[in-house]
Amino acid sequence: MIEITINGTPIEVEKGTVLLHAAKENGVEIPTLCNHEGLNREGNCRLCSVEITENGRSKIVASCMFPVTRSISVETDNERVKRARRTVLQLLINRNPKSPVIQQLCSEYGVKREERFALEPDLCIRCGRCVRACETNGTKAIELVGRGFDRHVATPYETESDACIGCLSCATVCPTGKITYDESPGKRKIWHKEFDVLKCARCGIYFATKEMLDWAGRPENDRAYCDHCQKYIESVKFLTEHEQNK
Ligand code: SF4
Ligand code: SF4
Ligand code: FES
Repeated sequence: MIEITINGTPIEVEKGTVLLHAAKENGVEIPTLCNHEGLNREGNCRLCSVEITENGRSKIVASCMFPVTRSISVETDNERVKRARRTVLQLLINRNPKSPVIQQLCSEYGVKREERFALEPDLCIRCGRCVRACETNGTKAIELVGRGFDRHVATPYETESDACIGCLSCATVCPTGKITYDESPGKRKIWHKEFDVLKCARCGIYFATKEMLDWAGRPENDRAYCDHCQKYIESVKFLTEHEQNK
């Protein structure tokens, strides 16, 4: 264990714990955008910046990328930290004025859009969560392409991708609502591709695209029920057999 201080309070942290997690576990909230607990960390947005001091020297670090390996003191909300976050938010609000999450953060930090630097509004903050979610699935159907202000998320050649299985993980983790999709009974459309969505024969919910079940390796003759109903049916079958064998 390593002793560190966060905002003046000493705490013990297991060596290697990510600073963001150590703070959270001790009731100190740090704002984040690109970080998502279920995904690899990339440190894209720098909103989680905090100040660390070690041997009398201070610097700003991204807390979601910083493993605690030695004794340090950490400030999560002092003026230098707030300034660093305001700089991040200023760039974001200039480009993303319509994103509710950015609007909310800017209002907390007193940041207003600078019309003279305003760019064409866009909901994407290039945090890469969607790309990492798709990679985590193992599907890798989308990527961040282009440079500078043209950087954006797309499928290869900006067209329908064979790799996309219509799972919606990308849309689910997007913090700004940039990734949209169309959903109607039995149909789903995302990233230029239309999918059939299968209906559970027991509960009637539309539960997965055919491509998702192909990806999961579920046999063609075993696709009538959603996971929940499948488990229910199996447990009823097990109990019935158990009773019969008594
Ligand atoms: S819907 Fe397509 S692009 Fe989005 S995470 Fe699933 S496979 Fe990837
Ligand atoms: S589309 Fe959403 S999740 Fe993907 S990079 Fe843009 S803001 Fe992040
Ligand atoms: S949340 Fe840490 S860099 Fe984005």
